[in-house]
Amino acid sequence: MSVKKVGIAGLGFYVPEKVVTNHDLEKMVETTDEWIRTRTGIHERRIAEKGTGTSALAAKAAVQAIGNAHLKPEDIELIIAGTTTPDMPLPSCACFIQQKIGAKNAAAFDLGAACAGFVYALAAGEQFIKGGMYKNVLVIGADLISSYIDWTDRSTCVLFGDGAGAAVLTETKSGGILSSVLGSDGKYAELLKIGAGGSKSPATNETVNAKDHCLKMSGGEVFKLAVRGMSDAVKKCCEMAGVRLEDIKCFIPHQANQRIIDAVGERLGLPAEKVFVNLQKYGNTSAASCAIGLYEAVEQGRIKRGDKICLATFGSGLVWGAMVIEW
Ligand SMILES: CC(C)(COP(=O)(O)OP(=O)(O)OC[C@H]1O[C@@H](n2cnc3c(N)ncnc32)[C@H](O)[C@@H]1OP(=O)(O)O)[C@@H](O)C(=O)NCCC(=O)NCCS
Repeated sequence: MSVKKVGIAGLGFYVPEKVVTNHDLEKMVETTDEWIRTRTGIHERRIAEKGTGTSALAAKAAVQAIGNAHLKPEDIELIIAGTTTPDMPLPSCACFIQQKIGAKNAAAFDLGAACAGFVYALAAGEQFIKGGMYKNVLVIGADLISSYIDWTDRSTCVLFGDGAGAAVLTETKSGGILSSVLGSDGKYAELLKIGAGGSKSPATNETVNAKDHCLKMSGGEVFKLAVRGMSDAVKKCCEMAGVRLEDIKCFIPHQANQRIIDAVGERLGLPAEKVFVNLQKYGNTSAASCAIGLYEAVEQGRIKRGDKICLATFGSGLVWGAMVIEW
């Protein structure tokens, strides 16, 4: 029996309209546009209006992806929402997305892999199609991290932005996903976390006053582990696909920090013109990062049919993932 090939039939993305520049942040915390640009590469980010949920961003991206795949919402049989910032703890973000787009024939669940959510969700969706359970799977990478940011903490508030990306996976005759590598190392779980609001530490006045519902991060350590984690995952993923690193036409890394991206590119020997970067516009949009990057790389003509491309992600967990795709 031949193994099914799974490819991306349509892509979509959405970011909120409100732009917050580095100069805007200068008015909120002790920072400068120069520091943020040189230490991170970020110029501005998009921030959702209060009261917006992740599903609202994701639904817009999803509608576009389904349209680009020439399908209707009713054709979608499964929605996997890669997110760690669902609208609320219950029900899942995927169910709200389903409600908003009218994908009434779909099963729906969330997949929590932080910034690696999109690649994890693509890999999961691929298996559902390969296994024969579904034909059309909607995969989302979306986060509204701004709801969890301490806007007085300059070490984190300058880094993140809100956004959503979506892809429709279907069976394909040629190309598609060639290999995936997913990894995790829970010994680093405390390095990047939102410490309260879950079952272990539900909301109390104390947790709110201590800002335990905000994202906290040991930036320096995460930086080093991100460089190693993504580089190793990409090497392994290319090996599994039987693709040489020099044959990768476009590399789309997680958009967290320009210096991380440069270090990964250098380790892999990839020239800068093959490395896709859009973090200057959006900052780190967590699970949406690679999804938005993929959309824009295709839109800008940086990816052509038959090209071998590679996605690489990294995030809280710590988790990482890489995927080689023939477009
Ligand atoms: C957060 C990060 C940008 C900090 O850059 P860095 O070069 O490591 O900077 P440091 O943490 O060493 O801080 C250097 C100084 O800048 C200061 N600083 C931190 N944020 C600042 C800001 N926004 N503006 C001005 N100064 C700032 C620090 O307080 C520190 O001051 P000190 O030396 O007086 O203590 C960087 O570590 C990083 O990007 N880490 C990875 C984060 C990430 O990508 N996380 C998500 C993964 S999914």
